[in-house]
Amino acid sequence: MEVIRNSRVMQQSVKEYIHRGNSIGFVPTMGALHEGHLSLVRRCREENDISVVSIFVNPMQFGASEDFSRYPRDVEDDMAELRKAGVDILFMPVAENIYPEGFATYVNVEHLSDRLCGHFRPGHFRGVATVVTKLLNIARPTRAYFGQKDFQQFLIIKQLVRDLDIDTETVMCPTVREADGLAMSSRNQYLSPEERNAATVIYRTLCEAKEMVISGKLTPVEVKSLMEKTLSAVPLVEEVQYASAFDPETLEDITSLNVTIYRKKNILLAIAVRIGKARLIDNELVEIAGIKGGNER
Ligand code: PAJ
Repeated sequence: MEVIRNSRVMQQSVKEYIHRGNSIGFVPTMGALHEGHLSLVRRCREENDISVVSIFVNPMQFGASEDFSRYPRDVEDDMAELRKAGVDILFMPVAENIYPEGFATYVNVEHLSDRLCGHFRPGHFRGVATVVTKLLNIARPTRAYFGQKDFQQFLIIKQLVRDLDIDTETVMCPTVREADGLAMSSRNQYLSPEERNAATVIYRTLCEAKEMVISGKLTPVEVKSLMEKTLSAVPLVEEVQYASAFDPETLEDITSLNVTIYRKKNILLAIAVRIGKARLIDNELVEIAGIKGGNER
């Protein structure tokens, strides 16, 4: 595995592969790699000639009071995992290389960036969109891989790729979970054993809500109340930032929709909570169109 720390060197190296007609797969990450990240890496390897992974804890996407300084960093372990996975190039730039003095250009994807997490993390998606645009320009991948775990992030990246004519296919991969359903996340490391246990309520809530949507037993508003109630019943859940049904294309809250319309749409059930020092998110898609009888109710 070649380790490249400079964006110009990276661009040069990629240019040579592209010149030779190789397809390039790319997985951007912030490191502290777990099975979720590695599932993207495996898919990337399967579908491309050359696989590139980046590790960059992007300061621009963290708010002033957020966890940038204590975000888990474990470069040695990460490198060993990536080597084992057969990655060809690891791009690991320093912040000064990505944001040199005088840096003044930002990418802001309107509307999508203001919803869900955007409301609680102002500026976060501007930081994500800016760094991902830069990384795509540096690695020039044929395909780039992202996790459904960060569904809003994926939508925003898909939008910027389309709007800015970036010649990359964006691929969304399923959320990888622990045995008890908790979505894998680098931030799970912040949880005490009790908090880790309490965090299982997130996926439980999603499954329960999904069941209710599929069976048509509850109205959209009732599903939202049920989600909020189930989450709030766990004392270690300090704050429920959102827990509701959303339009998976626009991210608009759809609980106020007329029931007939609601039953015809695909639905995103999404949650963000604070437990201890961690802010945890998760989501499930309910694809109504594919559910038997779902349209007739
Ligand atoms: P990071 O949180 O390290 O995640 C990197 C990629 O791994 C993202 O596409 C994320 O959705 C995916 N991922 C994380 N946990 C996952 C899980 N349990 N199952 C499947 N995929 C999972 O997301 C970022 O970094 C950054 O915002 C980044 C895109 C790199 C820009 O800085």
